[in-house]
Formats: sequence, structure tokens, C-alpha cells
Amino acid sequence: MQIGVITLFPEMFNALTCGGITARAVQNGLLRLSYWNPRDFADNKHRHVDDRPYGGGPGMVMQVYPLRTAIQTAKQTLGENTRVLYLSPQGRRLDQTGVAYLSQFPHLLLVAGRYEGIDERVIEHDIDEEWSIGDYVLSGGELAAMVLIDALTRWLPGALGHADSASEDSFYAGLLDCPHYTRPEVIDAQSVPAVLLNGNHADIARWRHKQALGRTWLKRPDLLINLNLQPEQQALLNE
Ligand code: ADE
Repeated sequence: MQIGVITLFPEMFNALTCGGITARAVQNGLLRLSYWNPRDFADNKHRHVDDRPYGGGPGMVMQVYPLRTAIQTAKQTLGENTRVLYLSPQGRRLDQTGVAYLSQFPHLLLVAGRYEGIDERVIEHDIDEEWSIGDYVLSGGELAAMVLIDALTRWLPGALGHADSASEDSFYAGLLDCPHYTRPEVIDAQSVPAVLLNGNHADIARWRHKQALGRTWLKRPDLLINLNLQPEQQALLNE
């Protein structure tokens, strides 16, 4: 997957290659990241990319020309079929279904805004979709873009160590994850549940599924409302 980012602060994205799954995906060539800085396309000698809002009011607005030129330049490299996403609190709220949907696009271009936002004409003319990572306001789209890149990386075939890990993530199939334990078996009188020690994989799978259902019911009952539970899941929940 190839992901380009339009940002005034490309250095922020170094966090993705410090370590972990995203760094490994870049090293393995599963994920290709590239950056375009609107400041490089500013049409003034001070390289300003923002100006005061028409109609007055606080803050500054990112201008059309540097952003549009950066987007067009990026698409020349990534391909004209690149899906262009703008990160903003006004977008569709990201969840695991949204991440799965976006993971279908081989080429994405993420536009990270700063200041009070970007000129509306860019959204109308140059952006395909607007996405939010939650109902709160960040100082810019960079952290949101990084959140999206990280979540997308988990869907890339071969990016996770264990083949099944993505399908066992919380929210896969709409449920929270089951609890996990590692050595030692007992610490400060807290024991690992016995079922995990008996080597019976069918029992373990059943216990994990029941835990996932129970935790979702306790911690996020809202998730269950939209889920069509199978009769055997219903029975597990009622046990
Ligand atoms: N930019 C600022 N706030 C944001 C949010 N909540 N989601 C995505 N992009 C943003």
C-alpha cells in the first residue's frame, strides 16, 4: 500500500518508523510513505501558506494554491486513481469498519490541515472523502493521519507477526478482544485461568469467545445493539 501525506510537518511522521508494526511494514516494503509540504508550493517569497479568513474572525485559513498544487503533484507520483482523504473533525467518524473499507485502496493521499482549517474550495474540488478520528479537536490533522496509517497497516497482508492477529483484534467482528496472559502462571495470588493451561484448543477458543462477548456486554453494550448475534453466541452470553 502506498500512502502519501500532505503536511506542513513531515518530521512528525518519523514516529511511525521508530519501531513496531508500522516501521517493519515500511522496512519490508509493504507500506510506502511519502510526503509533500504545501510550503514548497507557496507562491510568495516568505513561503506563507495561510491567510486571514474572509468575513473576519479568529485564526488563519490554509490557502487553495499551495494545497491544490501539492495534491496535484502528489497524484502525479501516486497515480490519478489515488483516493484523497482530508482529516478533519467534520468527517465520517473512523471505526474498524471504516479502516477495513479504506484498506481496499492501494493508493491513498492524506491531507493534514493546520490553523483554523483549509479553504472550502479545496474540500469541494480536490478531496474525495473527509474522515475524523473522534469528536474532539486536534491542533492539526497529522496525528489523525498517523492514527489512520497505523490502523491501516494492521490490515496489510503479512504486516502482523501472527497470521490471525488482525482477525483477533478488538472490534474485528464487532466485539472487544478477550483477555490475555503470559508467564508467570501465578503472581501475587493471581492465577491464569485454568482453561488456558489445559491445551484443549476447542475449549480455549470457546472460552475466549465467551470472554469477548461478556466484556463487550459489560464495557461497550452499544456495540452489541448493532450486532446480529448467532444463536450459539446468544447461548454463550446467557450461560
Ligand atoms: N483535525 C483536527 N481534529 C481532528 C479530528 N478529530 N479528526 C481528524 N482530523 C482532525
